[in-house]
Amino acid sequence: MAGNCFLSLFDYKTEKYIVAKNKRVGVLYRLIQLSIIGYIIGWVFLSKKGYQETDEAIQSSVITKLKGVSVTNTSESGLLVWGPEDYVIPPQGEAVLFVVTNFLETPNQKLGYCAESPKVLDGHCRNDDACEEGKMVVAGNGIMSGRCLRKDKNSTGTCEIYGWCPIERDFKPREPQLANAENFTIYIKNFILFPKFAFSKSNVLETTDGSYLKKCRHDEELHPYCPIFRLRDITRRAGYNFQDMATFGGSIGIMIQWDCDLDKGYSNCNPVYHFTRLDISVSNTTIARGFNFRHTRYFKNAAGESYRSLYKVYGIRFNIMVHGKAGRFSIVPTAINVAAGLALMGAGAFFCDMVLLYLMKKGDSYRERKFEGFREESNRKSLSEDTSDRKDVEEQENLKS
Ligand SMILES: *[C@@H]1O[C@H](CO)[C@@H](O)[C@H](O)[C@H]1NC(C)=O
Repeated sequence: MAGNCFLSLFDYKTEKYIVAKNKRVGVLYRLIQLSIIGYIIGWVFLSKKGYQETDEAIQSSVITKLKGVSVTNTSESGLLVWGPEDYVIPPQGEAVLFVVTNFLETPNQKLGYCAESPKVLDGHCRNDDACEEGKMVVAGNGIMSGRCLRKDKNSTGTCEIYGWCPIERDFKPREPQLANAENFTIYIKNFILFPKFAFSKSNVLETTDGSYLKKCRHDEELHPYCPIFRLRDITRRAGYNFQDMATFGGSIGIMIQWDCDLDKGYSNCNPVYHFTRLDISVSNTTIARGFNFRHTRYFKNAAGESYRSLYKVYGIRFNIMVHGKAGRFSIVPTAINVAAGLALMGAGAFFCDMVLLYLMKKGDSYRERKFEGFREESNRKSLSEDTSDRKDVEEQENLKS
């Protein structure tokens, strides 16, 4: 008996199949098989590249450089020449940069006493009591001196302040002063690395033509791999007119998308550029329109007194973002996806079994064949020893009836 048990350890059990000559279930089964194979091959493998291992943790660095010169002539500043060192803020070539397209300069500000702007509500006053000495003017330009400059022919009806005087005048931009900023170019240098595959590349086309980067301009059709963009083309591809955006300023996102199939080789891994406007103040509402900020430049005269120029600058902020993923053939995801497909086939067979046994008219006879009850009278004793076996048989008999 023990010997028998031991020997049966090395028995191979194989399944017994019942061939159901039923056209409808047969067709159903083939259809299920076909759609599962179609799903596995078409969707999982071809469309979703299920045979590849992917890396979405792209690492990247971006360096920018602008070129172009503009000349402005305003009543405050006179003639000015603007180079990239003047209109790019910050100037060190970062992935987020601001390009000045319009400005208001308030030159020769010195520390002293002058009237607060009538546009500052907290600066309005009727008498000196409203201008408590040493108090800050909320949202204003300085510290109150304690005097109220009443509205007569020479004053404004506002508190006198101590601050940088004269204060900035009211300014409504009409058109961009750096009119040819649309022809400035931005050179975007982008290096990427997919650490999982130790794959690195840059967006600058590898060419032996040394003057390529001096001549080329990015163009979707003609020069898709030239990394030099005209600002006007960037706003156009984001869907906006440069001159409209330049008056009040705005914000543009430049997305560099790397979708690389490394099975196709090094030269087929190339970036695609997308442009979107990020400040959505598209409507003509005057509140919160555009993009501006102030900065100053300080000087000293021969007597050692400090004075400064205050600039209110309007412009376009460019925000360069890099996304990407790479895939390469790997045996593990391939095996997993094939196994998942085979398991789905099993589910299909199970479903057809259910249809055959419980939904077909002749289901009864199929069930009788499939679940064979078996009880050998002469061996009853030995059978009852193994109670679990017997229970199974009884259960199957119950199923039958
Ligand atoms: C920008 O350059 C184009 C051609 O290079 C020229 O026609 C256009 O007038 C320039 N734009 C400005 C505002 O100077």
